[in-house]
Amino acid sequence: MPDHRVREHPILSVEDHPTFEFSWQGQPLPAREGETIASALFANGVRIFGHHHKDGAPQGIFCANGQCAQCMVVADGLPVKSCMELVRPGMQVEPLSGLPVLPRVEGVPEMPPLDTIEVECLVIGGGPAGLSAAIELGKAGVRTLIVDDKHRLGGKLALQTHKFFGSMEDCYAGTRGIDIATRLEQDLRDYENVQVWLNTTALAVFSDRKVGVLQGQHYVVVQPHVLLVAAGAREKSLVFKGNALPGVYGAGAFQTLLNRDLVRPSERLFVVGGGNVGLIAGYHALQAGIEVVGLCEALADCSGYKVHKDKLARFGVLIYTSHTILSANGRAQVESVTIAQIDRNWRPLPGTEKSFACDTVLIAVGLDPVDEFTRKAKEFGLPVYAAGDAEEIAEASAAMFAGKIRGLEIAKMLGRDVGEIPPEWYRTNEILKSRPGAVVVEDIPEREDGVFPVLHCAQEIPCNPCTSVCSQGCIVVGGDDIRGLPEYVGDGCIGCEKCVAICPALAITLVDYRQDRAAPTVTIPYEFLGRTIHEGDVVTVLDTEGGILGNVEVTKVRSPKMADRAHLVKVKAPSEIARRIAGILAQEETVGEPLGHYVGRIQDDAMICRCERVTAGEIRALIRAGIRDMNDIKALTRAGMGACGAKTCTPIIKRLFREEGISPDQFVESTQRPLFVEVPLGVFAGVSPGERPEEATAVHATDVHEGGM
Ligand code: FES
Repeated sequence: MPDHRVREHPILSVEDHPTFEFSWQGQPLPAREGETIASALFANGVRIFGHHHKDGAPQGIFCANGQCAQCMVVADGLPVKSCMELVRPGMQVEPLSGLPVLPRVEGVPEMPPLDTIEVECLVIGGGPAGLSAAIELGKAGVRTLIVDDKHRLGGKLALQTHKFFGSMEDCYAGTRGIDIATRLEQDLRDYENVQVWLNTTALAVFSDRKVGVLQGQHYVVVQPHVLLVAAGAREKSLVFKGNALPGVYGAGAFQTLLNRDLVRPSERLFVVGGGNVGLIAGYHALQAGIEVVGLCEALADCSGYKVHKDKLARFGVLIYTSHTILSANGRAQVESVTIAQIDRNWRPLPGTEKSFACDTVLIAVGLDPVDEFTRKAKEFGLPVYAAGDAEEIAEASAAMFAGKIRGLEIAKMLGRDVGEIPPEWYRTNEILKSRPGAVVVEDIPEREDGVFPVLHCAQEIPCNPCTSVCSQGCIVVGGDDIRGLPEYVGDGCIGCEKCVAICPALAITLVDYRQDRAAPTVTIPYEFLGRTIHEGDVVTVLDTEGGILGNVEVTKVRSPKMADRAHLVKVKAPSEIARRIAGILAQEETVGEPLGHYVGRIQDDAMICRCERVTAGEIRALIRAGIRDMNDIKALTRAGMGACGAKTCTPIIKRLFREEGISPDQFVESTQRPLFVEVPLGVFAGVSPGERPEEATAVHATDVHEGGM
C-alpha cells in the first residue's frame, strides 16, 4: 500500500505519533494515532469509501467536516462518518455499499431522565469567532459553555498555514492561523468559568428554548440564558457532470486532510473558484509540494484578494478567468477535468474546452453560513447572537474581531459591568469585513540606487503589518484606515528585511543597489516544499502577475526567526528587471490535451442531491410539471431526505427553480425541523452506538457539570 502521509512540510511540524493497525476490507493497514478513519484511508491510498445504495455509484469524501454524509463507512459493524470518527487499533472498517444494516436491539431501553444543565451563555463553535467571544465572556465572569464537534479547538484557524491579513493590533496580522488557534486556546484556559466540550455536536434548538447537544455519545440538554452561534460556514456545492465522483471535494476538506491531518490527499489538483478560499487552498497545496494544475473562475477576475491570486500566478499556477468547469472525468474517481471559456451570458464557448490530467478537483465556489441554530432560536424566543461566518461570510481576522465584540455585548446583556464597547471597534469590524477594492497599476520605483522595499500590492485590502514592523517609519498606508495602499516614503530604509518577512501575501521584495549598481540584490520571500532553494542555484524569477523575467543566481538563503519559517532568498539580478521581481517560479506550467467534445453546464444527469442521488433532470421535470413546493419534491424524489439533512442540495434546488424562471416568492422552501444533524436514535434513550440497552447507564448532570459551571 502506498503511504500518502506528509513527512516534511515547510511550515507544519511533523511529529512522530504512535502507529497501530486497523483493517480495511479485511486487509491490515497502518494508522497514526489521532487520525480520523477518512485520513487513515487517504493516507493508505483509499479514495473510494463505498457505493451508493440507489445506483452503485462510488462514494468518497466531500466536506471532511461532518456536514455531509458522503464519507460513511462501516466501522466495527456501525455506520459512521469517516471524517469525524477517530480510527482505533484493531478497528475493522468496511466500505458502506448499499444501505447499512441497523444494529440489532435486544429489548426496549428504559428512557432515563434527560441530563439538563443550565448555563448563562452557550457558544456553538470553537473557531476564531467562538474562541474570541468565549475569552471576553471568561474575563467578564459569565458562566459559559463552548461546544465544538472536533477533537481540538481552533476551527478553520487550525487549517491555515499562511500568515493572516488585517492589523497586528486587532487580529494577529502576520501570524499564521495555526499559531493564532494555539494562542487563543491558551488564553481561554485562564478562565475557569468557561467550560469547553470537544467532540460535542449541537443537534438542535427546541421550542422550549433548550439546545440538544451530543457530548461524545451522551445526549445532554443545555438551557442557556443566551446563545451565541459561531458555528462557521459550510461549503457550497456545484453542479457539473461528474460532480459526485470521488476526488471532487471542497477546498476546506482538502485543507483539513493536508494541514490538520498531515495526509497528502492529492498529487495533482485543479481548483474551481477564485475567491480567497480557492486561492489559499491552491497556495497550501503548493506549499506542500502538490502540483496545482490550474484554477478557473467564472468571473472576469478572481473575487479574492489580488495578492492571493498573484501569489499563485507568480509561483507558476495558470489562472483561467471567465472559465467554468464542464466536467470532472473518470470511471471510478477523478482522472481529469474539463473547463471552457464562457461568454457574457455564462454560456460555454464551443472550441474553448481544455482538459487537464489531475486526481482531485477542489470546489471553492463560496460558503453558506451555518445559520439554522440562529433562525430557530429567534423563532422560539431564545436570545441569540451570531458571529463570524455564521453571521456573515468574511475573513477569519474579521471573525475574531466580531467574536470579541459579541462576547462583550452578551456580557453586557447579562448584566456584567464591562464598560462601553468602543464605537471604533464596530468600524474596525466593518473594515476587516470589507471586500477588496479596485485594482490599480502597480507602482514600481524608478530609482537605481540605495536600498528600498518594492511593495507589489496594487489593491486596497484591510492589511498593514508592513507599516507596523518598519522601525524607520518608512512604510505608510494612504487613506483613513488600514485598507489604504502601502507606500514607501522618504529614504530611510536600512535594509532590515522585516517588511519582506512579515507580509502575509509574500508581496514585498527588497532591492539593494548599495554593493553593485548594475546587478543589485533582491530579497524574495519563499516558503515551498516542492523546490528547495540553495545558494548558487539558478532560479526563474517572475513579476507580480507571473510573467517570466529571466533566470538569476541565488546568492544567499536565510531563514531568520522574524520570517517565521519562511525563507528569505537573495538573488543577484540585472538592474532592468530587479525592481519588477516579485517571486521565484515554484512549479512549471502544465496543460493537458482537450477532450474534444462539448459538455453542457448543467446537464440533466448532474447530481443535485448527493445523499439520495437525485439528478437535475428529475427535479427539473417536476418543476416543469408545476410542482412549487420543495417538500413535494422531497416526498416524490427523496431529494433533501438524505443523511446530510438537505444542507448540501437545498441551495442547488433553489437555483434550479430560479433557472426555470420561478422566483423565490413563487415556491415554498422545505420545512426545517430538528434535528439539524443526524444522530443514532438510541442516544436519546441513553444507549451509546454499539451498546446494548441493558448496558446503558445514564449520565447525570453532575457528571458533565465538572469544571466550574
Ligand atoms: S444532498 Fe444530502 S439530502 Fe440532498
